[in-house]
Amino acid sequence: MKKNKLKQLMRVLILLIIIPSFAFCKNSKQQKRSSSQLTITESFEPDIDISLTAIPAEIQLFEGEKTAIYTYNSELIKGESTSLQQIPNSYLGPIIRVKPQQKIRIRFNNELPDKSIIHWHGLHVPHEMDGHPMYVIKKGDQFIYEFVVNNRPGTYWFHPHPHGKTGYQVYKGLAGLFIVENDQNDLPSGEYEIPLVIQDRIFDSSNQLIYLENNMMDRMVGFLGNEIIINGQSNTSMKVNKATYRFRVLNGSNSRIYKLAWSDGADLTVIGNDGGLLSKPIDKPYMMLGPGERIDVWRNFSSTNSGEQISLKSLAFNSGTIMGMMGSGRGMGGGMMRGRGNMQSNNNPSDSYIDNGDALTLYGFVVSDKQGEAVPLPTELEPIEQFDLSEVVNQNSPRQFNFHFQRMEWLINGKTFEMNEVADWEKVKLNTAELWEFINSGSGRGGMGGMMSMPHPVHIHGLQFQIIERDVSEVPPAVWNTMKDGFIDEGWQDTFLLLPDMRVKVALRFEDFTGIFLYHCHNLEHEDMGMMRNYEVIE
Ligand code: C2O
Ligand code: CU
Ligand code: CU
Repeated sequence: MKKNKLKQLMRVLILLIIIPSFAFCKNSKQQKRSSSQLTITESFEPDIDISLTAIPAEIQLFEGEKTAIYTYNSELIKGESTSLQQIPNSYLGPIIRVKPQQKIRIRFNNELPDKSIIHWHGLHVPHEMDGHPMYVIKKGDQFIYEFVVNNRPGTYWFHPHPHGKTGYQVYKGLAGLFIVENDQNDLPSGEYEIPLVIQDRIFDSSNQLIYLENNMMDRMVGFLGNEIIINGQSNTSMKVNKATYRFRVLNGSNSRIYKLAWSDGADLTVIGNDGGLLSKPIDKPYMMLGPGERIDVWRNFSSTNSGEQISLKSLAFNSGTIMGMMGSGRGMGGGMMRGRGNMQSNNNPSDSYIDNGDALTLYGFVVSDKQGEAVPLPTELEPIEQFDLSEVVNQNSPRQFNFHFQRMEWLINGKTFEMNEVADWEKVKLNTAELWEFINSGSGRGGMGGMMSMPHPVHIHGLQFQIIERDVSEVPPAVWNTMKDGFIDEGWQDTFLLLPDMRVKVALRFEDFTGIFLYHCHNLEHEDMGMMRNYEVIE
């Protein structure tokens, strides 16, 4: 107790010293910002120039009443028409298509009642262009992004990142795909390349979105819906030709995890993940996909019978969610859900959420009798540079990041998010490579208030990393056995699932840009509650 008082006194003293100089810093930063992000840089000649306006709107998603949503309206100011693709009748933003090394300008206008800012998930861009919540703009303001595409061809995405409001704004409809492509590969393209953004929602009986009510337990778990929405549209299936397809799958849900599989039992042929194509296709019986993660899936329908429907499903699994104080699982919160009743789960009443891990049908593919292009699956895709561990500076003592629960909060190493705070253990050097180890310890075994345990989709901004080791020895077998064949720890990634009691080591390299970047849990409710921190790349 005494110690705490002393600490507090010290803190006040330190603040008194720091505040004046900090205010000065902040001013100079503001100035720099107004010259570089609030106006166009004349010397920057973009290949693609787009305006994106976040705005409340209404769309005819279902029969009857229109649904109030948020969306990104877009306009191509400069560039090829293919660089901006609209999805008809969808709440999602456009698909932005760019090529490596292109110069991109995006003029973001905020017409929402709330503050907002856009983050380019997975892109390697400078600090000021990354959409850190410190850069939020208010209604009526504009933020100009100007950057060069540095990433490998792959499926990236964009979404809002205002602290405390990300979950709500994404839920209301703000998200879009950002595809980096080069034209030289032998994979299905054009009408044979299909985006699949998977989200779950709850609509009330007049077709309006229902987000979390103020039930503490539901927030702790994260939003779970009772209806699957693909690409922000109401269709539950699409027609396909007898042909080969490439599906770019994004889990754009707030907190739901999917165990993706084909309904006919065929293997899932995975050709890419977060950071682009794999070196070779990998066949999996199913794939786990946490919020924020992407995979590219190749599928051949050319010998499927006309009229047959093959669905993408999410198989049942045990997510390892334990909410100690309330007993196991949810449902004690008191029947809050008022669904429209378009249920896709097998064993749930129509007026509740569907639990994470329950079986679901996601989307159907109805095979037509039209013969389309059948492109053979390449045996080699895109070479992947193996991370050279000899350049790692902390090989034997990785930085440790403990994702855990304490004092009714989801925390990282005991800390919650502070806008400008970077702890000593969050500072790294430019042009070095490191090992980071992520540990999911929940509330620890037998902690006060009982056991709290959940999977966390861990995401790091500003770069792509490689998973070096996934230690599952402590993961409860009842959980692990239901998911163990659904991971690909290859290639470049920016988000991965950290299951209860799992330890994952990743290798990362800090290149090109100094400054503050985020890392956080991509369960958007966890993120909004503060399971997010800054790391800083220092010269
Ligand atoms: Cu898609 Cu900070 O995240
Ligand atoms: Cu991100
Ligand atoms: Cu989390």
